[in-house]
Parts: sequence; C-alpha cells; structure tokens
Amino acid sequence: AQKREYHWTIRDQEHNPDGIYRPMMLVNNQFPGPLIEVNEGDTVVVHVENEAVNATSIHWHGIYQNGTSHMDGTVGISQCPIGPGQKFTYEFTVSGQSGSYWWHAHQGLQSADGVHGPLIIHGRDEKKLQRLQYDTDRVLLISDHYHDLSSALLWQYLKPDMENTEPVPVGGLINGQSIRDCDDFPERRCDNTTANVRLPRIDLTPNQHHRLRLINVGAFAEFQVQVDEHELAVTEVDGTDVEPLNYHRVNINPAQRYSVVVNTAVEDSETFWLRARMITSCFTDPPKTLQADVHAVVRYNEVDETPTSIDWEERLAAQCNDLNTTDLIPAEVVAAPTKADHFFYLRSNFEIGRYRLSRGFFNGSSFRPQAKSPSLHRVVDGLTAQNETFKAAEDDDVFVNDAAFDISNELVIQTSGVKTIDFLISNFDDGNHPLHLHGYKYFVLAQGHGYPPLTHVGADINRENLSPLYDSLDLSNPLRRDTASVEAFGWILIRLVADNPGAWAFHCHISWHSEAGLLMQLVTRADELAHVQIPQANVDLCAAPGIEKGTGP
Ligand code: C2O
Repeated sequence: AQKREYHWTIRDQEHNPDGIYRPMMLVNNQFPGPLIEVNEGDTVVVHVENEAVNATSIHWHGIYQNGTSHMDGTVGISQCPIGPGQKFTYEFTVSGQSGSYWWHAHQGLQSADGVHGPLIIHGRDEKKLQRLQYDTDRVLLISDHYHDLSSALLWQYLKPDMENTEPVPVGGLINGQSIRDCDDFPERRCDNTTANVRLPRIDLTPNQHHRLRLINVGAFAEFQVQVDEHELAVTEVDGTDVEPLNYHRVNINPAQRYSVVVNTAVEDSETFWLRARMITSCFTDPPKTLQADVHAVVRYNEVDETPTSIDWEERLAAQCNDLNTTDLIPAEVVAAPTKADHFFYLRSNFEIGRYRLSRGFFNGSSFRPQAKSPSLHRVVDGLTAQNETFKAAEDDDVFVNDAAFDISNELVIQTSGVKTIDFLISNFDDGNHPLHLHGYKYFVLAQGHGYPPLTHVGADINRENLSPLYDSLDLSNPLRRDTASVEAFGWILIRLVADNPGAWAFHCHISWHSEAGLLMQLVTRADELAHVQIPQANVDLCAAPGIEKGTGP
C-alpha cells in the first residue's frame, strides 16, 4: 500500500469549456479536475486550499470511509465547510472496494461549477475479476453543462411553483470538452478557437479490447451512451464488477458509473461516433439552444475525419429511468441477508416549504445544511441530546412520516450495532431521482412504475402487505451499487447492511433536487460513534471565518 498525496488549490475562474466563457470554480486551474488513481489499500491525502470567495468542501463519492466518517466531506453532516482563505487536509484509506468513483464539492452546487473529477481504484485482481480482458483503460466523464453559475440558476428554481422547471442545461461535455457555435450565443463572450475547445477524441488501437469508465458527473441530465457499430459489454456498476453483458446503448443517471469494454474488431470504417444523448423527455421546455447530443470521435488512425458511422436501428429510450440492470450478475457472489431488522417506508415529493420556496421532501422533511453544526459533531457530542435534535426512529416497521421540520428540519434514521434495513421509497413527483447513499453500497432488490405491488388495493405500505413483492425476490446475489433511481411516480426497494459507523447523507443526486432539500440522513452504528474522537482540524473548520458563504437558501 502506498500514500498518494495531492495538493489542490480551488479558485474562481472564467473558463470556456465549449467556447462560451462562464464563471467557474476550478481545482488547480484544471477542468475537469485532477484524476485520483490509486490501488486498493492505498491512503489518499489531499491538501485543499480554498482561494475562492465561497466556502467549499470535497466529497469522495462512493468511498466507504470506514472509521473516517469525518473525512466524507459533506457540509452540515460530516464537517463545516472550508472557509475562503482556509486549508484542510483530507486523509483516508481506500479498502474493501475498487472500481470507478469520483469526487465533487459537497457545498451548494459547486460541482456543477467545475469542482469535480474522477477517482479510480484498481483492485488486486482487477483484470482477473473482470472476466473480460482489456488492453487499455480510460475514463470518460459525461456531463451536462450550463453557461451560468449554479447559484444564479438555483434562486430561480426555488421560487414557488417552479419545482418542475429544473434549470435545463445548454449542452453536454465529454471529459470537459465540446464545441459550440459562438453565433448561437450572441450575448455571451465566446472563443471556440482556444486549444481546450474541440470535439473530444478517443484514440483506440484496432483489434484490442478497451475499458471505458463512464461516469455521469452532471447536475441533472440522464445520458444514453453508445459507440456506433460497437457492442458495449458492461463489466462494472458503481464499483461492483459484473459478468460482461452486451448492450447497444447504456443509460446513465447523474452520479452513476458503468465500465464498458469495447471490442474493436472492426473493418469497414476508421472513425466512429461515440454519442452521449440526453434523454430530453425528462426536461420541461428544453430551449432551442439545447444541444442534447454530445459527440466524441473514436479514431483508429489518428486522422481527423468526420465519422460516417451508423446509428443503431432500435428506438431511443424516452423514459427517464435506470438502465435495466436485472440481468447483470455481480462477479463476486454476495447474498443479501434474508430478513431485514428494520423496514422504512419513505415518500419523496416536492411542495412549497418555508419562505415560500419550492422544496424537496422525504416524509415531510426537507434538509438545510447547518453549516456550523454538522450532524456528526452533534452525535459525537452526546447521544443523549440527540433525540431532541433529530427525528430519530429505531422501531421495526415505523412509518417515519411525521418529521416536524419546523422544529428539526431533519429526518435522521439512527441505528445501533449492525442492522439490516429495508427502504421502500415511493416517488410522488414527476421527476426521476437517482438516490445516493454515502458510505455504502446497497442491494437493489426491485424497482418499478406506479404503486408498489401490495396484497390488496389501498393497503398500507408495510412488510406484510408487500409480501407478494417480498416473496418474488431473488436474494442470492443482487446488484450492489451506491446510486439507483426511483423513477417518476415509481418505487424502489433497497436493502442495506448498516455496518459502517458514521453520519451519512442519503439524497437525490440531481443537484437541483438535493439543494432543494431532497436529502435525509442515516446515522449507523451510532453506539460506536459516541466514542469517536473527531480530529481537531475538522472541528476547527467550524470556527473559521466566512464558512456561511456560499451556503444555499
Ligand atoms: Cu456524490 Cu452526497 O454525493
């Protein structure tokens, strides 16, 4: 095992990823941000210096942080933000996991302003486990792109009756690149002749296998990704290796990752389109300037020519939901526990909340980060005070439906010891929600449209009435991932082995939705947390000047 050390400086900067200049926040003047590439067992050390005007923090998406919950980087939950002019060092060991992850700011929507990048963990038997041998390995960050600072867009979105009008991107980027016509944006400062602005290119050697790690680092859009005339064998889902299965197109929601292995036994053409298409039916009123199809050129000859490759014949997906993963089989067999200790029914919706702003809710609770008193600190400061602060629930079959957010504004489920928890989440909103849990992968047991299958119409949602669904589950080796979606007016059933001590966010990864409060917390193995010592550097952040800057409404 090695120590991997990085020095990052975060600054506000003008940048023109697609030609149009916009205010951004960048790490080391780079966009996308720097790659972290480590082996399983390595220790990652990142020294962050905040030279931007707003407070910030960095979250390591999908990393377990076992024993280092205080390094999870989540403002209001595991730390106070790093104030302007302040420094903070993240240090954590990566163990028990490998595959494709990423990092991003977890303060406001700074990720959409540029603070994000890939985090790749090479497993010990990576290639053996992958079953499908590959010759090269590369990252493809796929993202929607906006020309305005996220904070300006957010205020519009949170106005009453705007909940169905998430800000629509102007286009997309692949590895931070794309190229727009300056004439389409006469009111913007634009230069599409600088070296960074171009159609992304992917150079591949023919007659080899290439692993592409697709990571959706965007704020809102779901993409459908394909390489014309090439099958994509999916071999990894959010860090879980799976038996290779061929797809023509792979749907990827924000924060999800898929590795695909491309077989390049091709003859008839020398360049091909890699197409990443936004599923625009998820948007209300997409503007004329929206460039929903993002292209990269896959080249075998390093010659610049426009591909004439042929699109797949079948129709494009119009639905905003996850790739159908029911046929994907994890390479390492892990059975889900046959019974859960707890069952929680969660309802997600949007309505007008405090200050007449449109907010997202889980069971009537909408999250606002308390920049100056993160949950983890409150838990460690005394489990006794906590029942007043948190809306906790530990009983079996509890409906956590009465969180009085006027008092606490926080829905927190807290468990002691190692417990297995089922969550049945019903979505009463017309948008798709990719639900991410920090610190874990969970078992995706079932997903569906409409109302979950119950014993009889109108029955309450509890384990007994869900017995038709429970009886149909295959628990022998379900898919484990950290971000799976509950579709519009649909439901999802997940099972979690809550064995990782910490305070963890569970939220929609559409940045607009999480900023609107569609976030709740899990405090797991709380009994052990009471004995944890939070490092002084983390505690000191809460006394730093300027930490309220850039906190959302
Ligand atoms: Cu990728 Cu709470 O985040």
